[in-house]
Amino acid sequence: MNVKQLAAEKAVEYVQDGMKVGLGTGSTAYYAINKIGERVKDGLRITAVATSQASEDQARALGIPLVAFGDIDRLDLTIDGADELDGKLQLIKGGGGALLREKIVAMGSGRMIVIADENKAVDTLGKFPLPVEIVPFAWEWTVAALAKLGCKPELRRSGEELYRTDNGNYIADCHFGAIESAPELAASLQRIPGVVEHGLFIGIASLAIIGKKDGSIEIVEAE
Ligand code: A5P
Repeated sequence: MNVKQLAAEKAVEYVQDGMKVGLGTGSTAYYAINKIGERVKDGLRITAVATSQASEDQARALGIPLVAFGDIDRLDLTIDGADELDGKLQLIKGGGGALLREKIVAMGSGRMIVIADENKAVDTLGKFPLPVEIVPFAWEWTVAALAKLGCKPELRRSGEELYRTDNGNYIADCHFGAIESAPELAASLQRIPGVVEHGLFIGIASLAIIGKKDGSIEIVEAE
């Protein structure tokens, strides 16, 4: 079993009958959705909300009952991956481009469990470029404002085209290097009008399940 699968399957043990569950996006969340699908086939009764078209398609193919997030009041639990996580369970997310929906769903959940392989665990966030979702309108201005925060923003591409999120927006991948204060950076990003959302998840994850190469699992609880 690979380490992503190890972490993902452990997290699925937290899913209980009757829960409303948020399904993350990415190659780690993929294994969680597969495992949830297996448990649904075995009789687990849950309803789920997907954070991307890809996760929705996967869940539907596995027979996991899906609802639109707008049609329910809240979720019990969301299981999702991360691009980086630190010891305070601050995360960088959005490598897969789904950060806006992921944040809406995670913040509407009683609990978010983050699943990752040990390579994602860092002392200081920022080696992974921070994904920032921006509106296409006057994106040049928004990118210039991002650069003023001390990063090198790079507009994400998909082949010849600019990458579009499921919401029709662009992603600027911002190379900050070490992020000394994630909350301060988050506040600065939120002040830029063209920014729809950024990939810093602070105070959202309450538990991290980290899969290790030696086959062990580390569980970190938020303070
Ligand atoms: C998707 O937008 C991301 O936030 C993913 O959750 C994150 O990139 C982790 O993906 P992997 O599990 O594929 O590394």
